[in-house]
Amino acid sequence: MNVRRLAPSDADDVARIASGGWMRWPVTEIRATMSQRHFVGWAADSDKGGMLGYVLTWHVLGEAEILDLTVDPAARRSGWGRRLVAAVQSNGASIIWLDVAADNGPALALYRDLGFVEASRRPAYYASGADALVMRWPE
Ligand SMILES: CC(C)(COP(=O)(O)OP(=O)(O)OC[C@H]1O[C@@H](n2cnc3c(N)ncnc32)[C@H](O)[C@@H]1OP(=O)(O)O)[C@@H](O)C(=O)NCCC(=O)NCCS
Repeated sequence: MNVRRLAPSDADDVARIASGGWMRWPVTEIRATMSQRHFVGWAADSDKGGMLGYVLTWHVLGEAEILDLTVDPAARRSGWGRRLVAAVQSNGASIIWLDVAADNGPALALYRDLGFVEASRRPAYYASGADALVMRWPE
């Protein structure tokens, strides 16, 4: 069990895991995102080496923004989401921002547990009609 920095060659695994999460994300767009100058990402690998989850961020001047966090459905509730966000928290970001759908109970529970607080709300922000909660760490 291991959390490590993402490499460009991980794009296909990220796309595979993204498709089990909250959105479809074409691998070409994932590659483009991962090649940006301010991109920093982390992967969680199983003991056998397969990727179980990832977190994608922009990291600029000590501030990070979480773009996406997804754990493979079969590997959830084993602490990987917590470890991936902890990797962002412990690698030089003094502030972390993210937005999350107000009806995404698992993600909200995770972020609140890790000390994120709600900074603002964007009504009907997502295509589903759900509000976005903009969250910040630390308080
Ligand atoms: C949100 C997500 C990344 C959590 O990953 P995970 O590896 O299952 O999370 P963890 O096992 O590290 O859970 C850590 C804590 O978060 C909370 N939590 C996680 N999933 C939960 C659930 N289904 N119900 C309630 N609380 C939950 C709990 O407090 C949990 O601690 P505990 O297991 O000791 O009770 C995962 O559910 C996922 O990939 N969801 C789909 C994609 C998504 O919505 N991403 C968020 C985009 S903003």
